[in-house]
Amino acid sequence: MSLLLAMTGWHVEDWRARFQALLPEMPIVVLGEPFDRRAVHYVASWKHPAGSLTGLPNLAAIFSLGAGVDFLFADDKLPAVPIARVVDPDLTTRMSEYVVLHCLMYLRQQHRYLSQQRERLWEDDRNQPAARSVRVGIMGLGELGQDAAAKLKVIGFDVAGWSRSPKSIEGLCTFSGEEGMKEFLARTDILVCLVPLTPETRGIIDAGLIAGLAQDGRLGGPFVINAGRGGLQVEEDILAALESGTLKGATLDVFETEPLPTASPLWTHPGVTITPHNAAMSEPEAIASLITAQIRRLEAGEPLQHVVDPARGY
Ligand code: NDP
Ligand code: OXD
Repeated sequence: MSLLLAMTGWHVEDWRARFQALLPEMPIVVLGEPFDRRAVHYVASWKHPAGSLTGLPNLAAIFSLGAGVDFLFADDKLPAVPIARVVDPDLTTRMSEYVVLHCLMYLRQQHRYLSQQRERLWEDDRNQPAARSVRVGIMGLGELGQDAAAKLKVIGFDVAGWSRSPKSIEGLCTFSGEEGMKEFLARTDILVCLVPLTPETRGIIDAGLIAGLAQDGRLGGPFVINAGRGGLQVEEDILAALESGTLKGATLDVFETEPLPTASPLWTHPGVTITPHNAAMSEPEAIASLITAQIRRLEAGEPLQHVVDPARGY
């Protein structure tokens, strides 16, 4: 019985070493090297090449090495076995750090001061809004969105959230579905996108959505932070909104094409902050421990946790 590591873009040796230490009795095999396909019971995947998981007759479960699973559902030859994703405090904390950091960058106008420093410019217009006067709207009130919301509230931001199904969360103003979208956007100065990429959410951050954001806020215009997936955003629309002034700034961790092509105008736009899809990285130590615990559960006849629903796509 073996565990197959199927990943692109990450250092597979870090994962192999970690899994081997945690599962000494189980061969850890790697896609691209020779291995016995009949022995594979489990797959841990991050963006495996589509079609590469066929011909594994004893496969019992697929583990996403991240919180997102869109790359799995994009594989139309994916074996029909249960899929579990990452839900882990290490990853959640990293995402909340990212969200809080970039909301504070906008609240405290840190982009402006960085640029002033490059010009040796000492300028302060004494306009520092209080966090309580800035409305953050979180799209996606799941594991990551709820934790980020709680941490933003500790800092004092006026936080609301939007999800597919209605939610009641203490201290949080919540909206749901298409019917709640307009009101949610209209009270949002900083929009934080943490929804999964599904057929319903693809391209959701477009000109129409941006036009619905609050224009009357204390920051002088709205900002977008997308740490969900690049497929959520229409980059052309973001650039056009930055040019027209409908949008004041965008912090993007994820892109329609990754790595972001060097020719993309996003790289040089003064209103755009770019990070290389690392808002919340899957740290091998933490995530291999989570997946090992899942494998041990299955071996003990217990149900898998954090199973995704193929019909919903997340
Ligand atoms: P969850 O599944 O826990 O939460 C998803 C949330 O999105 C839920 O609140 C869900 O609503 C909402 N949602 C889904 N579809 C819709 C829709 N059509 N309309 C409105 N709301 C919707 O996911 P996580 O919080 O764990 O992760 C969110 C995403 O973050 C991941 O899918 C991944 O793409 C991204 N991510 C990015 C990382 C990075 O480094 N950039 C790292 C980790 C994750 P409901 O509650 O009603 O189901
Ligand atoms: C994830 C990611 O989905 O890192 O976990 O993008």
